Amino acid sequence: MGADVSVKGVWKRFGAGDGEVSALEDMSFTVGVGEFVAIVGPSGCGKSTLLKLLAGFEQPDRGEVLIDGRPVLAPSRRGIMIAQRGSVFPWMTVRQNLDLALDGTPDPDRHQIIAQHVNLVGLAGFEERYPHELSGGMLQRVEVARALVAKPDLLYMDEPFGALDALTRLSVRNELLRILTRDRPTCLLVTHDVEEALHVADRVFVMTPRPARVALVVDVTAPRPRRMSSPELVGLKERILTELGLSAADVT
Ligand SMILES: Nc1ncnc2c1ncn2[C@@H]1O[C@H](COP(=O)(O)OP(=O)(O)OP(=O)(O)O)[C@@H](O)[C@H]1O
Ligand SMILES: [Mg+2]
Repeated sequence: MGADVSVKGVWKRFGAGDGEVSALEDMSFTVGVGEFVAIVGPSGCGKSTLLKLLAGFEQPDRGEVLIDGRPVLAPSRRGIMIAQRGSVFPWMTVRQNLDLALDGTPDPDRHQIIAQHVNLVGLAGFEERYPHELSGGMLQRVEVARALVAKPDLLYMDEPFGALDALTRLSVRNELLRILTRDRPTCLLVTHDVEEALHVADRVFVMTPRPARVALVVDVTAPRPRRMSSPELVGLKERILTELGLSAADVT
């Protein structure tokens, strides 16, 4: 499980002439097999663009995006995205949404795999419900279950918990971490929440304002489960906020 990621000298622009926007300029980094990288950076700097390039939804203007050493030319089942805006189908039940993600799995296994994932995210008994019958937190759990049911090698998450209240966010996040210790896909998580990044990631990339480049890489070696109040994590949080121009001294 997992795959390695290599981004080499990637440039990405949108539009032309006066309307041209440079989203990424000469971006380079690598992510190891099974590693969890969190990406934080100012709004509009190019984080979603980066994930779209990795997932094969966009192509770089220059440079290369490689998964296991091969260029990413199109979206693949190996890499699943949990998008900034939810993407389950509202006209399908929880079960039908998961079933769709399992397209290609032999029939006898489908029922069991779906049951297993519905259980993992605490939604047993809600299989026949439609998205509008679920709470925001439950819906987000369906997103997580649907992404993981296909056992991706790469999981791209773009602010997956952004719409949730703080408590639900924490519980869905813990759920996700628990499941990930089982499957160990390579994970890239975009988040505005520095504590969330430090809670889950092996490394945190801090981006510059647009055009995005990696300004700072923070290794998070604290053992798991992590206590956000530990001096190590408090220190790293301060360092990241300072890099973002938001240090506690400025805020208080
Ligand atoms: N398909 C597109 N066409 C034109 N411009 C685009 C497109 N996608 C992104 N952009 C522009 O590229 C820049 C980076 O956008 P992106 O969505 O990657 O930012 P982001 O870092 O994810 O922001 P946020 O934190 O607000 O989600 C923005 O200025 C955006 O307007
Ligand atoms: Mg975005």
